[in-house]
Amino acid sequence: MRALILLVGGLFTSLVFAIPATDLDSTTRGEISERIAPIGSICVTGEECASAAGIAAVSTSSGPRSGDAIYGQFCTVCHAIGLLDAPKKDDSVAWQAAEKKAGGFSSLLSNAISGIRSMPAKGTCMDCTDEEISTTIEYMSGLKP
Ligand code: HEC
Repeated sequence: MRALILLVGGLFTSLVFAIPATDLDSTTRGEISERIAPIGSICVTGEECASAAGIAAVSTSSGPRSGDAIYGQFCTVCHAIGLLDAPKKDDSVAWQAAEKKAGGFSSLLSNAISGIRSMPAKGTCMDCTDEEISTTIEYMSGLKP
């Protein structure tokens, strides 16, 4: 009886391991690389299919982003409506007062980088460079460095 169980068990085990093994054996190199290809290379109907298009899109997005783009993504949530008393975009009176209080544009910039009172560090744009924060302040305040 025990021998029978062992025999059946052994058969079962070899079957289980045999299936994926034969599957792999019959797979060609091409099929494997197709299976492990990055998901990003899948084409979408109506869009350009060449991966070169993706590379071009990536390379144009490197380099400093515009103040407009950063403002729209990170700063607008507070600076559009003056949330928590944030100086509003294009409110030159409020921005000039903030600049005066800080003691010049460079202090305003360093306050924005390190955060001040309810203003979070870098306005939550953690991957922004100092230059990008500066450009964004210019964009929303009209102040010049
Ligand atoms: C969570 C809300 C919030 C976000 C997001 C935010 N800010 Fe602010 N910001 C504030 C508040 C509130 C103040 C006013 C702080 C004070 O003077 O008490 C402020 C003030 C500032 C000041 C003036 C600093 C000073 O010295 O008076 C600058 C410059 C500034 N923000 C830049 C930015 C930039 C650039 C972004 C986006 C990258 C941004 N902020 C995103 C809330 C925010």
